[in-house]
Amino acid sequence: MAVNSSSLKVVVLGTGGTIAGRASRAGDNLGYTAGEVGVSQLLESLGGFAAGVDLVAEQVAQVDSKDMGFALWQQLAARCDHWLAQADVAGIVITHGTDTLEETAYFLQAVLNLAKPVVLTCAMRPATALVPDGPQNLLDAVAVAATPGAHGVVVVCAGNIHSARDVQKVHSYKVDAFASGDGGLVGLVEEGRVRLLRPWPSATDFYEEKKPLAQALSVQAAIKSVVLGGLPASGWPRVEIVLNYAGASGLLVDALVAQGVQGIVVAGTGNGTLHTDLQAALLRAMAQGVRVLRSTRCVFGRVLGTAADAIPDAQGLSPVKARIALLLALLALQA
Ligand code: SIN
Repeated sequence: MAVNSSSLKVVVLGTGGTIAGRASRAGDNLGYTAGEVGVSQLLESLGGFAAGVDLVAEQVAQVDSKDMGFALWQQLAARCDHWLAQADVAGIVITHGTDTLEETAYFLQAVLNLAKPVVLTCAMRPATALVPDGPQNLLDAVAVAATPGAHGVVVVCAGNIHSARDVQKVHSYKVDAFASGDGGLVGLVEEGRVRLLRPWPSATDFYEEKKPLAQALSVQAAIKSVVLGGLPASGWPRVEIVLNYAGASGLLVDALVAQGVQGIVVAGTGNGTLHTDLQAALLRAMAQGVRVLRSTRCVFGRVLGTAADAIPDAQGLSPVKARIALLLALLALQA
């Protein structure tokens, strides 16, 4: 649906979430169903405020993002790839639930051509709220997608621009629910204008920053061709997350290995520390060919690893993003 016409085209892909949520009672911020209002309707709610941009809406899905999964990720990546290849498209906006938004953003950062901006946005209040936050977030996201020179996958929420690599949902109900930790914000959206605080994300923001660039890019190229071109018959590798805590054991890891898990991310305590029994089980798993990465359950900071570590660290990725990195690395190996 074209909302107005001009030469600068931004495609808005709807996937659901609270931004598209509807409550039976106006003003109810909790008792709503996510993913009900269509993306065309969300754009209509902007009125004429996105003037100067030609908005094209496409409904890719209508889900609560807690139910996000591999098939939908692949479908979304394919639609982004399609639109990014059109010369007249300046950028893409994706409306998405907040709960797994950081995972989808990181996944897309890994598989898309990053020469143009892909901007994920969301809301913490449903579209039917007394004061919904979705319309402003959507307007800000469109402004970012239409900004000359913008590129890479970013998340726009509450006037902040976060990189896909650094962004994390850190609050369960506040409107400004996301943080970028030590990496900091990419920028701010101030009355429709972008103020850049650091460079836009690039391809190297994806995974192992210690790897030589050419090597990192060749892994990324393999990942792109698998995700966009067709999965191997074996499908998506199985990668799970386990947690360290007081009294943790190796039972879950042993059970996962018995079920044929291919990768495990462990969310360690503090600087990635692990209970002796959990560590022993993870080392047994590695001896059987399971790939293991060690992240931290701390919201901020990263695991500072050393070359002597028995279990490699996750290079600053949160547990959920380390899982995606491992999943994609395994997929590239299988292809
Ligand atoms: C969802 O993630 O789809 C629901 C929660 C939200 O968008 O805030």
